Amino acid sequence: MPDSAIPQPNDLRAFWMPFTANRQFKSNPRMMVSARDMHYTTADGRQILDGTAGLWCVNAGHARPKIVQAVQDQVAQLDYAPAFQMGHPKAFELANRLVDLTPDGMNYCFYTNSGSESVETALKMAIAYHRVRGEGSRTRLIGRERGYHGVNFGGISVGGIVANRKMFGTLLSGVDHMPHTHDLARNAFTRGEPEHGAELADELERIATLHDPSTIAAVIVEPVAGSTGVLIPPKGYLKRLREICDKHGFLLIFDEVITGFGRLGTPFAADYFDVTPDIITTAKGLTSGVIPMGAVFVRDEIHDAFMNGPEELIEFFHGYTYSGNPVAAAAALGTLDTYEDEGLLTRGADLAQYWEDSLHSLADHPYVIDIRNIGLIGAIELQPIEGAPTKRAFSAFLKAFEKGFLIRTTGDIIALSPPLIITKQQIDELIGAVGEVLKSI
Ligand SMILES: Cc1ncc(COP(=O)(O)O)c(C=O)c1O
Repeated sequence: MPDSAIPQPNDLRAFWMPFTANRQFKSNPRMMVSARDMHYTTADGRQILDGTAGLWCVNAGHARPKIVQAVQDQVAQLDYAPAFQMGHPKAFELANRLVDLTPDGMNYCFYTNSGSESVETALKMAIAYHRVRGEGSRTRLIGRERGYHGVNFGGISVGGIVANRKMFGTLLSGVDHMPHTHDLARNAFTRGEPEHGAELADELERIATLHDPSTIAAVIVEPVAGSTGVLIPPKGYLKRLREICDKHGFLLIFDEVITGFGRLGTPFAADYFDVTPDIITTAKGLTSGVIPMGAVFVRDEIHDAFMNGPEELIEFFHGYTYSGNPVAAAAALGTLDTYEDEGLLTRGADLAQYWEDSLHSLADHPYVIDIRNIGLIGAIELQPIEGAPTKRAFSAFLKAFEKGFLIRTTGDIIALSPPLIITKQQIDELIGAVGEVLKSI
């Protein structure tokens, strides 16, 4: 169907949109009707360059042939098979291919349908793991300020975004938070990993002492915090966290929902920082956003600890109706094929320098108080308007969209994370457009 023939809704009332200023949107809708490679087409026929890979997920670009084909074939062949006590070939084939990509010693994969569900799964696994080993006192979970781990109760409890927490009661008990690592005074305009702040990891020692290490099950962090505005870990910080976790027997969970699948120019952030966690949570880039799917990867010892007791009994009382759904598994296999054919899981490394130079060329633009980058992620932090936080960045978002560019803003930070197929010329276009927008807000 040509884009112009796609019917437009004449009533936008019923859909209560997620994480959206509903009234603002409905008074001036931004409607996408099709997408291919690096671009969306809007309902009014404009091309929009995708500067954010959708929501950090369309890593392979839009409507990629192998993914489209895989989904079409699979839905016609086996649309659904029960996920509990039954299987289908693609879920197993996919798990085997995925664990070939994960760090050594992480050879097991548990399927979910989203990043939020991957996080809940990882937190439950961590607590249950200690229990099956006879350390049932380890129930506390440690997160970090400005962390984003999805929107379910476990995720918002260990997360550190006030707006996501304050409306929802008392959340999980037994949770504590490390400080975030964002330090504009010492690290503004750093290219790559900041010099200052590794010592902030030692706050985990303080928390361990406060609660006693024997009560702590796991520590969860995003290796690079994405949703709160691209907070890149200071040099040595993640290694230090790993050491402290090892010393006290805490599981270290890397939430790689954004950083997984090539975002930093390596398959996982664990590879980039050379720090192997005990559990990795993923979603988004797993299917390049095409079909909802997540996966949690665990070290062999964690999986093995559950494989006890009578063989006919369920070992882990957790799972989802759509865990490993056949169509999602096919989409993921098509995505992995595309990543492999085009070298996309490492392409970010080739482009990183160009991306960095391009982003930092905006340093002297109006209102810019910091620029930071790693892999194919970038952030431009703006001076907030006094008394109206977020307004300046949101108006940049609207202006960019008018110009034909999708950017993302969080607070007063512009976050960029294009599909991994972006060309140098498209980087120039995107950063050029952001530069013009900054001069016009
Ligand atoms: C690090 C991290 N964890 C979890 C999530 C939640 O993922 P989902 O929206 O698929 O539930 C996100 C989403 O942006 C994320 O960035």
